[in-house]
Amino acid sequence: MDISERIRYVGVNDLDKVLFESQWPLKHGISYNSYLVVDEKIALIDTVDIAFKKEFYENIRSAIGERTIDYLVVNHMEPDHSALISFIRSEYPNIEIVMNPKAVPMINGFQGITDNITAVKDGDELNLGHTTLRFYAIPMVHWPETMVTYCVEEKTAFSGDAFGSFGSVKNCITDTSCDTYEKYQDEMIRYYSNIVGKFGQPVQNALKKLSSLELKRICPTHGPVWETHLKEVVALYDKMSRYETEKGVCIVYGSMYGNTEKAALSLADELKSRGVKYAIHNLSFENPSYAYEDVFKYNIIAAGAPTYNNDIFPPVRHFLYGVCSRFVRNHSFFSFGSYSWAGGSVKLMDEMMAAHGFCILTEGLAFKQGYRKEECDMGAVADLIKQS
Ligand code: FEO
Repeated sequence: MDISERIRYVGVNDLDKVLFESQWPLKHGISYNSYLVVDEKIALIDTVDIAFKKEFYENIRSAIGERTIDYLVVNHMEPDHSALISFIRSEYPNIEIVMNPKAVPMINGFQGITDNITAVKDGDELNLGHTTLRFYAIPMVHWPETMVTYCVEEKTAFSGDAFGSFGSVKNCITDTSCDTYEKYQDEMIRYYSNIVGKFGQPVQNALKKLSSLELKRICPTHGPVWETHLKEVVALYDKMSRYETEKGVCIVYGSMYGNTEKAALSLADELKSRGVKYAIHNLSFENPSYAYEDVFKYNIIAAGAPTYNNDIFPPVRHFLYGVCSRFVRNHSFFSFGSYSWAGGSVKLMDEMMAAHGFCILTEGLAFKQGYRKEECDMGAVADLIKQS
């Protein structure tokens, strides 16, 4: 598929993988995007997942036939994009690999490759004839070696994982060829919150570094190529990386015998009756991927966890640990939960989240054994949230 006269899409769609990174559910698959920039010389930008060797090679051959590839630009060494480097070298033995200096030990470590490598620093350029590729390091978006490749004449940024999204692009590679923004927006937030969410400051640094570039197109490694909705996508990344959210509540809970669940559902009802936006997730049965997405949408987390082994009920503790490890800022927190004889979970949750910079909305509400409104009045909590 031609993105433009000199940019060809040679990526693949993975509709079989169940969990990305063996963690995150894929509702609509995922794409591994790879691009050819074709001029007097040809550059391939990134490869694809190991499972797609045959299809990837067929895509390349269909795009350039018998011509050779002169350069392989490696924007990112994570194996979903780098796994086929050795294969590409075997098909194109004279290919020169172009990468950030921090990627050099990685390509040796992952694939034992030590030769035909050019390490490029910020602002270095590669001339393909009448086309110039310029390189910018964007460390920690998503790994330390990550870089963006900018095609000067096409005003196109090959951005690696940045601006990526879950979801295959089987019927729609660019957002110009079909209106995709609405369809992909939630999956882009979920992708960001799951994969890149920890790296808010590096994303801000990258946006600042790239802000002087004139952009007509962003070609990420996952999800659609952004042209029509480029401004919205950049604005969304800016917002998410500043941990800016709208007013609303991400309710998460786990419940062994239904008592903490009653409290969670009561909070949801009280918020609904007051017109406060919320999402609710039972973490005993749901992958936390979707709750992380809502943490990056709403400014309050309400977590319900019974006391278990004198600790926080494990699925909820696991989720909160993930929130803290993402350095989430500008959020408030409220905890609740049941206990049978000795409590502890709400105190531990409040301590954990306060230590990570969360504003504790009100002291956590624990109730003994069955749920009783007198001990855990969600109407009062919903009032507090509405007023906050
Ligand atoms: Fe899609 Fe960080 O690799």
